[in-house]
Amino acid sequence: AHKIILDTDPGIDDAMAIFAAIAHPEIELLGLTTTFGNVSVAQACMNALTLVEMSGATAPVCIGESWPMHSDPMPFPDFVHGMDGLGDQFLPPPHRRQHDQFAAPFIIEQVRQYPGEVTLVAIGPLGNLAHVLELDPGIAKLVKQVVIMGGTIEHTGNVSPVAEANIFADPHAADIVMAAEWPLVMVGLDVTYTVLFDRKLFSYIALHNRKVGPMLHRAADFYIDFYQHEHKVAGCYGHDICALTYVLKPELFQTIEGAICVVPEGIAAGQTIMKRIKGDAYFVRAWDERPLQKACMQVDAQGVIDFFRDT
Ligand code: BDR
Ligand code: CA
Repeated sequence: AHKIILDTDPGIDDAMAIFAAIAHPEIELLGLTTTFGNVSVAQACMNALTLVEMSGATAPVCIGESWPMHSDPMPFPDFVHGMDGLGDQFLPPPHRRQHDQFAAPFIIEQVRQYPGEVTLVAIGPLGNLAHVLELDPGIAKLVKQVVIMGGTIEHTGNVSPVAEANIFADPHAADIVMAAEWPLVMVGLDVTYTVLFDRKLFSYIALHNRKVGPMLHRAADFYIDFYQHEHKVAGCYGHDICALTYVLKPELFQTIEGAICVVPEGIAAGQTIMKRIKGDAYFVRAWDERPLQKACMQVDAQGVIDFFRDT
């Protein structure tokens, strides 16, 4: 089984990824770490606890970063995920409490306990992972893989013409994460904007999973309303589920390789820029000091939809 830690800001598509991670027999979910992003970190942590509890799982949930490292906080996108992050359902509070460790020390402890075995799946802003690297730089070479939903190489952004939300929310943190010597895969808008989940899919899930299906169906309705209105599409994009899918089914994705830098501020803040050509004598040398990472450029969208539905 794949040992994973899910770093998340639930979030409706986060909820899909959390449910799938819990349900999938080949995943051993070591824990969830939470961050601000779609909602405040307190709300994100509550939501994660609620989602874990609804599934009947026992994975620990840790609270993490509440604020970007250096940039101004972005307003929470309540028009996308609702004021509560789960489509304005205002579910009753969870019974369980958060784990007594903060997100970054929890991640460090788990990775040190299982060297070379842990995959970090980050589907929110990247403050927790940056914090891990600051506290324990040696950790990078002990992590099996880092899979992030975030960024975009060629597709336009979703919070500016060049920036994707998770990167834009904390560009300094994202840049630290891209620069680290761990094998990283960026699952960005280049692929997630091709994976559209329609309403029928959630009716099907509601019918087949009585525990979490009806709640997910209501959340997805809210999320789809947003996409239908804003993007004129008959469904919602399963951004975060794509990152989870990559862990189990990398063969569904086509990747390119290069060094990635994140624009920290200004008009292009949050842009992820990959340099693919090795050793080209550019005047700006920032990329040359960085490891080569992967970015997904194409995906078998139906493969992701099937994976999600069947899980
Ligand atoms: C990302 O931003 C959030 O709104 C989603 O949960 C996803 O992680 C997509 O840009
Ligand atoms: Ca997310």
